[in-house]
Amino acid sequence: MQDVTDLAFMRVIAHYGAPDYFVTEFFRVHSQSRPEKHIIRSIDENQTGRPVFAQLIGENIHDLTRTTEELLRHPVAGIDLNLGCPAPKVYKKNVGGGLLREPAKIAEILTALRATVPGLFTVKMRIGFEDTRHFDEILSIVNDNNVDLLSVHGRTVKEMYRSDVHYDWIAHAVSRVRCPVLANGNVTSAVKAADVVATTKAAGVMIGRHAIRNPWIFRQCRERFSGQPISRITLSDVREYIERLFHATKHDGIPERAHVNKMKKYLNFVGQSVDATGAFLHDMRRTETPVELFAACDRHLLAEPAKEFPSEPYPGVIARPNCETPDSASNGCSLENVTA
Ligand SMILES: Cc1cc2nc3c(=O)[nH]c(=O)nc-3n(C[C@H](O)[C@H](O)[C@H](O)COP(=O)(O)O)c2cc1C
Repeated sequence: MQDVTDLAFMRVIAHYGAPDYFVTEFFRVHSQSRPEKHIIRSIDENQTGRPVFAQLIGENIHDLTRTTEELLRHPVAGIDLNLGCPAPKVYKKNVGGGLLREPAKIAEILTALRATVPGLFTVKMRIGFEDTRHFDEILSIVNDNNVDLLSVHGRTVKEMYRSDVHYDWIAHAVSRVRCPVLANGNVTSAVKAADVVATTKAAGVMIGRHAIRNPWIFRQCRERFSGQPISRITLSDVREYIERLFHATKHDGIPERAHVNKMKKYLNFVGQSVDATGAFLHDMRRTETPVELFAACDRHLLAEPAKEFPSEPYPGVIARPNCETPDSASNGCSLENVTA
């Protein structure tokens, strides 16, 4: 996830139980582009013990293959192509989710990248742009090009992050493609992950926002899938997570206020499971210094430290303003839109 899945965040997630693999933020590919250095760091300095796939977003074949060749010199698990980003400023350039309107162009890109990547080549897509009219054709293109793994976010581009997730369309993809499929979208908990796998028959799940809220989710999924009891997380565990994230994301040169604002963007997600009324979110958003931020955390998380941090978000408590709201979504899905 853009602005999220950097080296620091991956390290924090790995502390609580890493996923089987990570995917980087997307490398923007165009005629002038060079792979972004901070994203390269999340590959070169990855010490999570889990492989990391490099994700690309772009449409020009020459630039995509040039960037792929460059990234293959780094210790990537494979190359992933983004066919899902719903931000208007992205899809208007005909990249990300915008490409879902042009199956012929997708075929060209997949053929070129498949020829360039000797190892794992994966695709992340939504089920369509406005509707699913091209879905089957694109799934055939995925087959024709021997894609190694397909992640499907079960919404159209136009549905952004707001609608229900169409797990039936993910199941449809599972029945059509030869490669394993990961089901993505609103996998909120380990129990939900097991339900989604059972209903879609997907090979697994891809989890985004709910790993920000609950970094234990991958460990809990592993427990659920192996029939063990799911670890119970307390509010004091969450206080410790916030402190770890604070130290991990602190770097020389980041002004204190900017760091607090960055933390608030993560805490917008965490707050969805702290209390049912959103009181933590309300208080946390009004803080300006680390002292105020941690005082708010202490008030809400250490008053009853042994209280359970529920695995599902409280209904109606949303990480507002965020990608689930129409206004913030217009500029894309970056934590920059999750304002304090
Ligand atoms: C802040 C943010 C940044 C994202 N950046 C990317 C990205 O760079 N590449 C990508 O494939 N998906 C990106 N996504 C989409 C997620 O990977 C995922 O498809 C979507 O959030 C639905 O899954 P979830 O309900 O598990 O979050 C991003 C989502 C968010 C909230």
